[in-house]
Amino acid sequence: MTGANTPYLLRAARGEKLDRPPVWMMRQAGRYMKAYRDLREKYPSFRERSEIPEVAIEISLQPWRAFKPDGVILFSDIVTPLPGIGIEMDIAEGKGPIIANPIRTQAQVDALYPIEPDESTPFIRPILKALREEVKSDATVLGFVGAPWTLAAYAVEGKGSKTYSVIKNMAFSDPAVLHALLVKIADTITDYACHQIECGAQLIQMFDSWAGQLSPQDYEVFALPYQKRVFEKIKAKHPETPLILLVSGSAGLLERMGESGADLISVDWTVDMADARRRLGPEMGVQGNLDPGVLFGSKEFIRDRIIDTIKKAGPRGHILNLGHGILPTTPEENAAYFFETAKQADSLLAAV
Ligand code: CP3
Repeated sequence: MTGANTPYLLRAARGEKLDRPPVWMMRQAGRYMKAYRDLREKYPSFRERSEIPEVAIEISLQPWRAFKPDGVILFSDIVTPLPGIGIEMDIAEGKGPIIANPIRTQAQVDALYPIEPDESTPFIRPILKALREEVKSDATVLGFVGAPWTLAAYAVEGKGSKTYSVIKNMAFSDPAVLHALLVKIADTITDYACHQIECGAQLIQMFDSWAGQLSPQDYEVFALPYQKRVFEKIKAKHPETPLILLVSGSAGLLERMGESGADLISVDWTVDMADARRRLGPEMGVQGNLDPGVLFGSKEFIRDRIIDTIKKAGPRGHILNLGHGILPTTPEENAAYFFETAKQADSLLAAV
């Protein structure tokens, strides 16, 4: 349904032709903002910040109040649903997710149980409800999940990895255990994404951050089929909710990502946006794709890159974003300039 009250970002996600693309930033709530760093002193643990509803609501709304982006994302993490199936985790300062008892055997996979989101993640409902009430139709509320391969990488490795040697050992010597784990995680995040939609999320982005570590032939075995499984099941229940897929370092995988069932592909800066458009075809929406490092440049440089990206993406089916998350040391002033300029892109484009 696209009516007068449909928020701007959803209109773009549904392929409407617009005068400027909607804009939001991955990791728009976070350390580059002083308001976030101040709150972090009061709530030093990431799980507190993301699981106490009032705190998570406040953090999600910090960028909204400061920059009025067209999308407001739930402040949370991709590993947040894992304790709900029996994988305990913590999120360590500066390191990311830590899983004390990594999943390495079939018996451990068999012991995982189905998620009951209102019981294991009771904070999701009040957070999403409050975000919808706050932004009304002035912004789109975004939910997100980690993809099966990326969540399995954390579950099996026990932490972030440079080489992914433990999960690749499993994939390339004992794949049955890994496939059993991927099925369980896929069904978990399908339920979790549907729950977010039922609680108010208007679009879902799936982060397969570490699938770019797979060769294309292995991506087709360990990542793509599970992305498809999740997207197909979400679509069957919620056909109106647009779905975005992100893989980091995806230049060699774009066409395959296009087969996932996503409505939009989040493109990183290793691909020229005009090439991404050509490779993905006219029916596929795109998100991106400025290098987050552009925000360390001059104002003129930032503005030129915004205009260049918008021109290359064209007037239909584009959500302006960085190619990945904003970096923690980014000057807050440059983030403000990015949003301000993006929101005036219609007049800037008319002037060039
Ligand atoms: O985009 C947003 O504003 C929503 C918030 C969000 C976070 N994590 C908050 C967070 C989202 C969408 C994520 C997803 C996420 N988490 C991904 C996929 C996106 C990507 O970057 O590819 C991944 C791989 C993770 C796992 C994870 N969690 C990492 C690698 C880290 C960073 C470790 C560090 O300190 O640099 C985290 C912790 C985390 N999640 C932070 C934030 C803001 C940093 C901790 C902090 O700022 O206090």
